[in-house]
Amino acid sequence: MTIETSELITDIGELTTQADGEPRRPDRAVLMQGGRIRWIGSAANAPAADTRVSVGGRAVLPGWVDSHTHLLFAGDRSAEFEARMQGQPYAAGGIRQTVEATRAATEAELESNLRRLGAEALAQGTTFLETKTGYGLDVDSEARTARIGARHADVVSFLGAHVVPDGIDVRDYLDLVTGPMLTAVRPWVSFIDVFCENGAFDVEQSREVLLAGRTAGLGLRVHGNQLGHGGGIALAVELGAASVDHCNVVSPADLAALAASGTVATVLPACDLSTRQPLAPARRLLDAGVTVAIATNCNPGTSYTTSMQFCVATAVLQMELTVEEAVWAATRGGAQALQRDTGPDAVGSLVVGGRADLQVLDAPSVAHLAYRPGVPLTIAVWQHGQRMPR
Ligand code: NIG
Repeated sequence: MTIETSELITDIGELTTQADGEPRRPDRAVLMQGGRIRWIGSAANAPAADTRVSVGGRAVLPGWVDSHTHLLFAGDRSAEFEARMQGQPYAAGGIRQTVEATRAATEAELESNLRRLGAEALAQGTTFLETKTGYGLDVDSEARTARIGARHADVVSFLGAHVVPDGIDVRDYLDLVTGPMLTAVRPWVSFIDVFCENGAFDVEQSREVLLAGRTAGLGLRVHGNQLGHGGGIALAVELGAASVDHCNVVSPADLAALAASGTVATVLPACDLSTRQPLAPARRLLDAGVTVAIATNCNPGTSYTTSMQFCVATAVLQMELTVEEAVWAATRGGAQALQRDTGPDAVGSLVVGGRADLQVLDAPSVAHLAYRPGVPLTIAVWQHGQRMPR
């Protein structure tokens, strides 16, 4: 539902628009109508509006764009997490446990879990969300999760090639993923994704999956170089994927290839902490000229958080990004990773004519996102120009 009356947000202490070249600016106001931004300027020159909301000198920025989540699941893996905290390495084996729980869950249970996590993310400022299948891994379960995902997420990616499920040979499984499973999920998904890693799918298998998706008209995404030099980054660049995600283990050749490409490197700081992996080298990626996005990777195994603020704070405190770089990566960067950074339905920035997706922080500047780590600062969210109830 769009709001036809005009609403002015005024007394903005610091506005971050993420429009190209636009710095953080003090004393701004934003006019919204019909779900879109109609005017941005100095608070002193603000036009009349049907309603005015003073944010009392607080910071306003675009809603977060969370470009990598796995919210279509059932079950709990806190025991696996605790074992990791006692020294067990992460080896992706727990994915099969979530597959079992997800297959056993009802459609209502899966939908309720997705809605719960989506609401949690929205309350923390996430106004645009990607999620993936990948815990069904048979035709009916993948189709079911894709269908549920399309009802509540903004973008759904097909991750049938997450791992090879028990009881099926890898060749037979690839035929299933690239054939009947792809056909079954196709109405609800816009990207195909693959876990290209030792222990999941090798480069040739991943290429086969991605090319089948491309033939079906899907965009490409890759889980790459999380646990080792699995070749995912090189493959993503070769095929012109929108994004390659994780990027913990990056060779000089990967760095050069990414920098010369249009593929976004999406880093997942909460996952790195929860798996005790070395943090993705986001500073090195940026310094080489790579476009970097930040996402939560919310899933029950490696990153059970919906907090983009936590990821932004970690990127600043531990990955050596500036606050501006981290906020850009979590808004425009995420939009670019989802190929939604331009055009009339662009997200991740506040521009006249664009979508009115924004958040207010209980703080005077975006620096507080990292300066006050662990404090939930988002106090108001507008999505499509509509204020979200809290
Ligand atoms: O992005 N790396 C592969 N997939 C997920 C983990 C899924 C799980 O362990 O359940 C990830 O971290």
